[in-house]
Amino acid sequence: GNLIIIDRSGQEHSLPATEGLSVMEAIRDNGLDELLALCGGCCSCATCHVYVEPGYEHRFGSMTDDENDLLDSSDHRKATSRLSCQLVMDGEAGSIRLAIAPED
Ligand code: FES
Repeated sequence: GNLIIIDRSGQEHSLPATEGLSVMEAIRDNGLDELLALCGGCCSCATCHVYVEPGYEHRFGSMTDDENDLLDSSDHRKATSRLSCQLVMDGEAGSIRLAIAPED
């Protein structure tokens, strides 16, 4: 499968979706530099905020209380908000679409 990442300027990027990696890792490892991901993926910074495009939510597990609390600290939270370091990719074929949220 692959990830379609919509950056802050609206441009789309197609990245490989490697099973077991997080979406944050895929974005960072493929040279997109819009995600700060300051805490390195330990769910404590909220700078890896993304929006999962409608229809793709089921590809990821539900959020923990920690993720929910951190997202509440963002001025840009939407119903589709997730922290991308908490989104582990499955091995399914097909694309997953996500957009990078504005910086807080
Ligand atoms: Fe810090 Fe995701 S990288 S919460």
